[in-house]
Amino acid sequence: MRPPGAGSGKPRPAMQRLLLEDETEAAPGGLLTRFYNRLNTRTRFFIFAILFAVIATAVVTYIERRLNGGDVSAADPTNIAQTSFGASLYAQQCAVCHGQDLAGQAGWDGDHPTGNRPAVPLAGDSPIWRLTDTDIFNVIKYGGQAFSPDNYKNNMPGYAEQFADGDIWAVVAFIKSRWSERLLKQQETAAEAAEKS
Ligand code: HEC
Repeated sequence: MRPPGAGSGKPRPAMQRLLLEDETEAAPGGLLTRFYNRLNTRTRFFIFAILFAVIATAVVTYIERRLNGGDVSAADPTNIAQTSFGASLYAQQCAVCHGQDLAGQAGWDGDHPTGNRPAVPLAGDSPIWRLTDTDIFNVIKYGGQAFSPDNYKNNMPGYAEQFADGDIWAVVAFIKSRWSERLLKQQETAAEAAEKS
C-alpha cells in the first residue's frame, strides 16, 4: 500500500524516452556537449590534463618574459614578437609624453639652455639618429639626467626599476620599427663616423 500523494512510482517507458530526448535537445553547445557526454572519464581527464598543460606553459612563458624580458639583448625592428611587445610597453609608459605617434611635445626644438625641454620626437624628423641603439637603451634605462650636465634639468625619467633589459630592447626595437629608411641610414652613417673619429 503506497502512502497518499506518492505519485505512481517510476515513469512509464514511453515517458522516460521523452525525458531523455528533451534533455539532449535542451543541452547548450549542441554538438560539443554531445561529444563531451560520450567520452569516458579517462578521456575527459586527458583532455583536461592537456588543456591545463597548455595554459600552464603559456602562463609560465609569460611570467618568464616579464622577469627576464626574454633572452633578447639587442633591438631587431623586423622581429614582430619583439616590436609588438615593445609597442605595448611604449603605449603604457612613453606615449603620455612622447605621443602615441612618437612625435614628441610642442616646443621641443626651441632653446632650452637650462633644461626642462619638452619630450623630443623619437621618429620622423627627429635628431634621434645621432644616438646608437645602445645610447637609446641607456637613456631609457638610466634616464636623461645621467647624460646631462648638472646645470641642465633633463626630464626624461629612467626605467631601471620597472623594466628588465629585454623590455627596454623591445621598446628600442618598436621605436626603430617606426623609422623611415632614411632615418635608419642616417643613424648607421652617424655611428660609423663616430667609430672612425
Ligand atoms: C614624463 C615624460 C616622459 C616620459 C614618460 C618618457 N619620456 Fe623620454 N624624454 C622626455 C623628455 C622631456 C626628453 C628630452 C630630454 C631633454 O633632451 O632635455 C626625453 C628624451 C628621450 C630620449 C632621448 C631622445 C634624444 O634624441 O635625445 C629617448 C630615447 C626617450 N626619451 C625615450 C623614452 C621612452 C622609450 C620612454 C618610455 C619607456 C620615455 N622616453 C618616457 C620625457 C619623457
